[in-house]
Amino acid sequence: MKRITIAIDGYSSTGKSTVAKQLADYLDYVYVDSGAMYRAITLFALQKGFISESHFNKIALINSLEDISIEFRNDDTISVVEMYLNDKNVEREIRTFQVSEYVSQVAALSEVRKKLVTIQHQMGKNKAIVMDGRDIGTVVFPEAELKIFMSAKPEERASRRYKELIEKGDDITYEEIYKNVQERDLMDTTRKDSPLIKAEDAIEIDNSELNLEDQFHIILQLAKDRIVGRV
Ligand code: DC
Repeated sequence: MKRITIAIDGYSSTGKSTVAKQLADYLDYVYVDSGAMYRAITLFALQKGFISESHFNKIALINSLEDISIEFRNDDTISVVEMYLNDKNVEREIRTFQVSEYVSQVAALSEVRKKLVTIQHQMGKNKAIVMDGRDIGTVVFPEAELKIFMSAKPEERASRRYKELIEKGDDITYEEIYKNVQERDLMDTTRKDSPLIKAEDAIEIDNSELNLEDQFHIILQLAKDRIVGRV
């Protein structure tokens, strides 16, 4: 059977990773959450004190990039893939609101993007991969057989993210999250290097009114059409 590359891009909190994971499980493909890689670098910068409320020492971060090892590891006991930063499991820490607040600034640095895109190319060299992010269909895998661009109303995305973080025990208000969603949309779509834009050949899916099951079946069908060569 033909092995394809599936790129899923879109705004934050549109459920890209949920559907990407479902697809990868079903097709027995590798799943890569590229946002987790940008989050891990952001966590590193926070831990080293390169980022504070009033200042971001970009030069210090750029000079330290060589010392950062980013790896997805599979924990056999629970069969999930988790993010390791310099050999330490940081899966929980990279999902905090603090990391979300700064990640778009870190992701705007070309040096950071260059490092991560090199790793992403390596991961996708054998195809049979589903990767989600912001620039996967435009920059990382412009030749991907299937490109999806996900969107949803900002209010809907903020309320999904709010529920998620509250369930995890974060002390946060809906208003703070709504503001963060809007700020990240603006930064991700307007940065100079690899901004979030829909690739010309991407299929847009607005899932404001779609349930997870319907969304999965729509995208799975698109993938199957390409695997069997119907498209
Ligand atoms: O998907 P996410 O919300 O976990 O991503 C976190 C941030 O990382 C997002 O605001 C923008 C950045 N990002 C990016 O610039 N390019 C990617 N391919 C993935 C994420």
